[in-house]
Amino acid sequence: MVSTLDWNGKLGEMWANKVEAHDRLLGPIGDVGIALLGDIKGKRILDIGCGAGATSLAMATAGAQVVGVDISENLLAKAKERDLENTCTFLLSDAATADFGEPFDLIYPFDLIYSRFGAMFFPDPVTAWTRLRDQIVSGGKAVHVCWRDASLNEWVTFPLEAVASILGDEDTKVSPSGVPGPFVWADQAVFTDIFERSGWKVCAEQVSGDILIGAGPNAVADAVQYAMQVGPLGSRIKTLEPDLRNAVMSSLENAMKSKLVNGQIRLKTEGWAITATA
Ligand SMILES: C[S@@+](CC[C@H](N)C(=O)[O-])C[C@H]1O[C@@H](n2cnc3c(N)ncnc32)[C@H](O)[C@@H]1O
Repeated sequence: MVSTLDWNGKLGEMWANKVEAHDRLLGPIGDVGIALLGDIKGKRILDIGCGAGATSLAMATAGAQVVGVDISENLLAKAKERDLENTCTFLLSDAATADFGEPFDLIYPFDLIYSRFGAMFFPDPVTAWTRLRDQIVSGGKAVHVCWRDASLNEWVTFPLEAVASILGDEDTKVSPSGVPGPFVWADQAVFTDIFERSGWKVCAEQVSGDILIGAGPNAVADAVQYAMQVGPLGSRIKTLEPDLRNAVMSSLENAMKSKLVNGQIRLKTEGWAITATA
């Protein structure tokens, strides 16, 4: 279960140790979300659940005034470390309950809210998104990106199917939608209901893309390492005995070879880009 506590504990620590891998996975859909914000030059933007800061930094580079908020100390430390020129304001705070005006001396109210997989973990989402609506200018936009159903996401299903004969069906089932975790907003009806009950007008578009999971002279080995680090497979094989782990690696290697095209291995992703208007 993903809870707010976990993000400031083991889960946040795990993410902080795999920042590059997660940026690689979430980068393409995150960029689609940033593009949906329109011209952000000079705009005041709240980046919710900014994690290690990749999106905050990208928006600041494009000329926005960005406040990145997160509850994970580990991830925020990474964000500050990466912000070599102090272009963003990073806040350790719970976005569901924080008051971004007083006592912080910030750029406020916000013109825009953005989140790459960071604003769907609130225990009481309707109260949180109602409060957030009060912290944005009238008619302001919030853009949130997240995955559609796990079964539609090849980056999830392909590695799991490749090792199903070794780990068994139970350990290689795709993650269900709607439970706390990366697919909690996979069902359009779930987030639509939350935004509408919080007073936002909402529309969502499907985003199809792919991620480069293997490249370079050892593209297959790169893809195997990648599949063993991120997503449902990555988290399920952490404690495997060495023999089983080797079998998993060799099965993944065979599977990844079949995906090698022009020296690269890419797996498909399916997500949502949600635009809510205050
Ligand atoms: C899936 S990660 C995404 C991180 C980052 N947006 C990215 O794309 O790399 C979710 C992030 O949301 C943060 N988060 C979860 N609940 C939060 C809350 N109530 N307030 C602020 N941040 C929260 C977590 O600490 C974590 O950094």
